[in-house]
Amino acid sequence: MGISILGAGCCLPQQEVDNHAFESFIETSDEWITTRTGIHCRRISDGILTYQMGAEAARQALENANTSPEEIDMVIATTVTADATTPSLACLAAAEVGIHTAPCMDLNAACTGFVYALDVAEKYLRTDSAKKILIISAEMMSRIVNFKDRSSCVLFGDGAAAVVVGPSDKLYQSWLACNLDGRYKIFSKATNSENPFRQNDFDWPEEVAHMQPGLMEMAGNDVYRFATQAMPEAVQRCCEKAGLAPEQLDRIIPHQANLRIIRTAMKHLGLPEEKVHINIQHYGNISSACIPLSLCEMQRAGELHPGDKICLVGFGSGLTYGAAVLEW
Ligand code: UT7
Repeated sequence: MGISILGAGCCLPQQEVDNHAFESFIETSDEWITTRTGIHCRRISDGILTYQMGAEAARQALENANTSPEEIDMVIATTVTADATTPSLACLAAAEVGIHTAPCMDLNAACTGFVYALDVAEKYLRTDSAKKILIISAEMMSRIVNFKDRSSCVLFGDGAAAVVVGPSDKLYQSWLACNLDGRYKIFSKATNSENPFRQNDFDWPEEVAHMQPGLMEMAGNDVYRFATQAMPEAVQRCCEKAGLAPEQLDRIIPHQANLRIIRTAMKHLGLPEEKVHINIQHYGNISSACIPLSLCEMQRAGELHPGDKICLVGFGSGLTYGAAVLEW
């Protein structure tokens, strides 16, 4: 048994910010950002909250899947930038679309979040514990980006996408992993309340002791090196489990962190760029929302056909990585 993506939706903030907009407050240029990353623009929230973007994406996904809120048996939200520490993003977004009693939970696997969530959903569907699951991937990266750090602030954007999944007899296979040696490579410390009982600084490991709570820091070059080997490894291992050769895939939907990473990974795999969906130029890196946003765009553009074998592949903080192969 496999799973079917029954419908998809997406929501992006109205505000579009191009590369030139960064030139006034950090030392950078459109030319540097474009050539080193492939990014031209990104959307940045001008007030819309993460759960509101998630809810709009979910509304569209339900409509697109001809599914009413009552039919949803479970909601899984993926995010690293929820509006609240508690309750979950899933609770806030689900309530907004008229879901009242389905179990709701958040899953944090950073940029690989959607691939992980799809796998969790598949387990519930396969054991008949649910018939329809709503996955919402919503991120406001601008909430944790340090706009004084030119090496990271130009890379990220905000947005959300959602899918409704159900059981089917189509192909589904996954391969998930972590490289925990890299757990400090992309890091954002939680913020703390004023606590009258704490006299000492927290005993953070040396690697992250200097970091300011609430802001993300990234060892860009290390992550770049990791990603260029992790993405091909995930695709290869997942294809192996599915009994496919990578060349048999019709479309690859990669996490959109850097165009150079995507190109290098595809070269390792020997896959032509025509098979790869790329939208980083418009949106930058929206963490876990990148992959379902691509799915939503491709579905709307009629680029996915019944029977197509597609591979979703991601990597991110943790360092998490993984891939899923499924039949459209
Ligand atoms: O979802 C996963 C999250 N993250 C990623 O996937 C990021 C992975 N890493 C990358 O995409 C790349 O490593 C970066 C885009 C972060 C950096 O690109 P790079 O080609 O590896 O550049 P670099 O870090 O080697 O820096 C080259 C130069 C440096 O200047 P010096 O030391 O050579 O004088 C940087 O200070 O470019 C400088 N630089 C910039 N210059 C203009 C770094 N950021 C900028 C900038 N504008 N925004």
